Amino acid sequence: MKMKRLTIISCLLLLGIMNSSFAQAKKEKPLYKDANAPVEKRINDLVSRMTLEEKVYQLNQVLVGNNDNPNNVGEAVKKVPAEIGSLIYFGYDPVFRNSVQRHAMEESRLGIPILFGYDVIHGFRTIYPISLGQACSWNPELVKRSCSVAAQEARISGVDWTFSPMIDVARDPRWGRVAEGYGEDPYTNAVFAVASVQGYQGTDLSNTKNIAACLKHYVGYGASEGGRDYTYSEISKQTLWNTYLPPFEAGVKAGAATLMSAFNDISGVPASSNHYTLTEVLKDKWKHDGFVVSDWDAVKQLIRQGVAGSKKEATLKAFQAGVEMDMNDRYYLQSLAELVNEGAIPIEKINDAVGRVLRVKFRLGLFDNPYIPVKAEDKRYLLPENLKTVEKLVEESIVLLKNEKNTLPLSTKSRLAVIGPMAKNKEHLLGSWSAHGKAEDVVSIYEGLESEFKNMKLLYAEGCDFDGNDTSKFAEATKVAQGADAILVCLGEKKTWSGENGSRTLSLPQIQENLLLELKKLGKPIVLILSNGRPLELNRIEPASDAIVEIWQPGVNGGRPVAGILSGRINPSGKLAMTFPYSAEQIPIYYNMRQSARKNKGGYQDIPNNPRYEFTYGLSYTTFKYGELKASQLKIKHGDKLVVEIPVTNTGIRDGAETVHWFISDPVCSITRPIKELKFFEKQVIKAGETKIFRFEVDLDRDFSYVDETGKRVLESGDYFISVKENNIIVELVN
Ligand code: NOJ
Repeated sequence: MKMKRLTIISCLLLLGIMNSSFAQAKKEKPLYKDANAPVEKRINDLVSRMTLEEKVYQLNQVLVGNNDNPNNVGEAVKKVPAEIGSLIYFGYDPVFRNSVQRHAMEESRLGIPILFGYDVIHGFRTIYPISLGQACSWNPELVKRSCSVAAQEARISGVDWTFSPMIDVARDPRWGRVAEGYGEDPYTNAVFAVASVQGYQGTDLSNTKNIAACLKHYVGYGASEGGRDYTYSEISKQTLWNTYLPPFEAGVKAGAATLMSAFNDISGVPASSNHYTLTEVLKDKWKHDGFVVSDWDAVKQLIRQGVAGSKKEATLKAFQAGVEMDMNDRYYLQSLAELVNEGAIPIEKINDAVGRVLRVKFRLGLFDNPYIPVKAEDKRYLLPENLKTVEKLVEESIVLLKNEKNTLPLSTKSRLAVIGPMAKNKEHLLGSWSAHGKAEDVVSIYEGLESEFKNMKLLYAEGCDFDGNDTSKFAEATKVAQGADAILVCLGEKKTWSGENGSRTLSLPQIQENLLLELKKLGKPIVLILSNGRPLELNRIEPASDAIVEIWQPGVNGGRPVAGILSGRINPSGKLAMTFPYSAEQIPIYYNMRQSARKNKGGYQDIPNNPRYEFTYGLSYTTFKYGELKASQLKIKHGDKLVVEIPVTNTGIRDGAETVHWFISDPVCSITRPIKELKFFEKQVIKAGETKIFRFEVDLDRDFSYVDETGKRVLESGDYFISVKENNIIVELVN
């Protein structure tokens, strides 16, 4: 009896204790879980509760979904450490994604959500043109809208963070990654960096239609020697500041949440262990408060690059330089804690790094809404309004390179032979890094033509493969083409021929060129349609083509706009964002080079010294006449406002869009400057017969200055040239 009473008393006591500790726990809901608390307070609170091991986990990114058996989600989830900071997420199934996230939220001590990253480069499933093509549209607003299509599709499939945009200024078209960036000019890259960051991130990262952006590859990767990938790059401080850093500065100012450190070695100090760029410039000067992720195995590569002798040393160098998160190689996982325990890395620096990662997670709203809704694929992808947006981008990115004797547009009554390995191909129109894009979603060139030229029978032959030397299909192609009024020859590059590790010389394989030359013998008009990820050398086939249309790698909606341009339904308006050299031997060749020290001298003796098609080149079906270039004043003082404008008249008989590019030159300066530098561009639709005014409001500090070796902007007095095409005006900046 006594025993029974005692038991009851102790049970009551225990209940009492439990109740009070529950109440206490309830009262003590940790601050970091309070959605209404300010982000910085939540970060501090959470960091103060974390063990060193938990902190280190946050600074690592590993993989999931790649090679995982989709029928065994449980196994894949189990492999993921519940405390991991981030995953490269190859999946797109919301159920799988939520299971992984639940594992982190419920099976780790503090319930920190995982950040799911992926390469959403030019679309998630609705694939749109490669970035080099996008730039040729000169329409940042359209690029912004396309990026927001990608963001919506990605976020609703479980990806919160894209490794995009790539804003490496690139002047060597042999480098396969030129496909992924916005061409050879710093300003162009800067404008599209801002457009894409705004498109991905919107105004509020916690909105479930937006994802975090990642500016890459920080920095100078585009200067890789000889256009080979993963190589050394020799970049002076002056060039770093005036050529390679400006797009990153613009992207950081636009609020990009993260950056990725590059593979290249900048004049002896690898980009991924570069304290100057990663900390002094990015964090100290630009005050970036998000984080830097290393590129894939870039920490490990410090060993191969020869600046570290061990995992531990590579970890120390990358982390101390300012790389907060280690992608894939698990070096940080293995060595960071030891380095802290030995006193080589102060815990404050770890706390700062963890805080940066958590900041992005809080801003994305992942703590408060860690899961995504489960929606069927047809509610997520390829939605009609999104397809419309990306189709418009394709239209505007296509560049008409040649149109002798008005070969184009074609009469819709003409009999067309459609020949070439690209004509019916779908896969390669997607381009490199095509995320979850599917060939079956693609409208091929042939299909586009079928719906455009409805009343006609198209004549088709493949002609040859993309490469190799099997000419056995030439005869059939010639036979088919004999019955046509015009021959469309569809050539180009496979999607794997550009992108990472996609360095190549610039000619198409001989077999493709020979096919075109063979067809030329029939004496009929030849329209060359090119789909490729880089500027090409067209020496052998340009003279044999009456018209050339550069369609880049347009993504899912390629076929229709190409056909629309051929029929004349669409008036082409794209202009090149990257020079097409006459031949690869001219490389480097780009519009904003320095002047030769001797007038008209110094070029090659045996090949032309001009490129085949220069930066901003592109034809239209109408003609534009540029009027007089006027400035609000010809003498200006520091702090003055300067406005320049030029009228442009559409002198043709059909409406068209024209992009006006504004360049400046500084002929006398303390440092040598490029022959001309793009500072502004604007695209406007001009109706037939109409005149539109194009205006550039010059900001003297921003547009006339250069940046010196220390990162200081310098504006010198003297004459400046402002030019648009061959029109220019001189203004004098006086003290
Ligand atoms: C390596 C590439 O260089 C980078 O651009 C990409 O984002 C990462 N791999 C992740 O796939």
